[in-house]
Amino acid sequence: MSAPRPESPRAYRGRLLTPAAAPADGAGSPGAEVRYLDDALLVVGGDGRVVRAAPFAPGAFAGPVLDLRPAVLMPGFIDAHVHFPQTRVIGSASGPLLQWLERSVFPEEARFRDDGYAALVAGEFTGRLLASGTTTCVVFSSSDAAATDRLFRALQRAGLRGIAGLTLMDQRCPAELCVPRDEAIAAARDLVQRWHGEGSGLLEFAITPRFAPTCSRALMEAAARLAADHGLLVQTHVAETPAEGEAALREHPWARDYIDIYDRVGLLSGRAVLAHGIHLSPREWDRIAAAGAALVHCPDSNFFLGSGRMRLAEARARAVPVALGSDVGAGRSFDMRRSMSSAFDNALCLGDRVTPAELFVTATQGAADAIGLGRVIGSLEPGKEADFLAIRLPEYVHGEAETLQHLVFAPEAAAIQRVFVRGKLVYP
Ligand code: GUN
Ligand code: ZN
Repeated sequence: MSAPRPESPRAYRGRLLTPAAAPADGAGSPGAEVRYLDDALLVVGGDGRVVRAAPFAPGAFAGPVLDLRPAVLMPGFIDAHVHFPQTRVIGSASGPLLQWLERSVFPEEARFRDDGYAALVAGEFTGRLLASGTTTCVVFSSSDAAATDRLFRALQRAGLRGIAGLTLMDQRCPAELCVPRDEAIAAARDLVQRWHGEGSGLLEFAITPRFAPTCSRALMEAAARLAADHGLLVQTHVAETPAEGEAALREHPWARDYIDIYDRVGLLSGRAVLAHGIHLSPREWDRIAAAGAALVHCPDSNFFLGSGRMRLAEARARAVPVALGSDVGAGRSFDMRRSMSSAFDNALCLGDRVTPAELFVTATQGAADAIGLGRVIGSLEPGKEADFLAIRLPEYVHGEAETLQHLVFAPEAAAIQRVFVRGKLVYP
């Protein structure tokens, strides 16, 4: 059998909006620097990497150019916190958190032991992500290994970039979702072998303890060892509501505060991605910053559950990397434009202002940095993998400021036209 021939480069013309290139040493926080071009040529190599993102010039590309004007070409959105088995319970989140988990989430997640149901919803889940312009997702599955396998298969079939994990719970949850430590760790190890690095690196397995109240110390310690053995990303929830914090410390009275639980079991590191982080003490903020862990801000979920206001300014002041998450199904939309818009409102409630540019960078390059992919994706610049969207904005929208404002705050007037992952068209 002959090897597949490398594809030839392809070129796209449109407006271009991207986080500005990182400093040469790749260091530093993403800030709010963007690059906008009114008429640009984006050339993608046969290997799926950006070859060129520059002002359009006639004859600059030898082959055919797909003219997508007046669409805006931009990096795909990164949803850094989303629950696959909550796809069908969007809208049920009439908080507070712990009661909603008992009432709506746990019964729904138990349904994922049915393989046919898991396969069906996995297809719905990936379809909703793509239609929203999300090219990378960081996902909680259910605690069922076969359902998690279904999720990975669906991500692969959809052509998405995804980091996903089996949700670990071995206490204080319904029997149908409770998986004892040894069984859960063996299942996670098996999924690592099967999926971590698949799709030529598009897929990764993440260690996913649900949160401290539903995980024993022994489970979290074993999970941390597995993460360290394979260099895996760790995702969990922290400090979303005060009642959750109290439940966490009731279960783990040896810890001095909520973050200390994850810290002492070995889960807090530069590969940890912590959802929410609303009710944190100064000491906990310091520990997160010192460990190099990242936070995922999920403002739409926080509003809908009434969980509180995450202090983005505090994260910025301590140089804690921040990504945005839809947190579906507590969040009401898969569309990261909803998350950006809610993040603006969240900051406003605290008397702070974030700019559309900052929100755009947070949903792309900032998120990529937070999940360890900052050198691979997050912006459109030569050498990066070409995960990008063509978004059709109204003709009357001109220039950088108007483009950002419509992109972040007016999604109904801005249809997702095409979605590409590693240069390959994956939507429609
Ligand atoms: N904390 C633990 N599990 C969950 C969940 O499924 N959703 C949210 N929003 N918070 C959680
Ligand atoms: Zn969540």
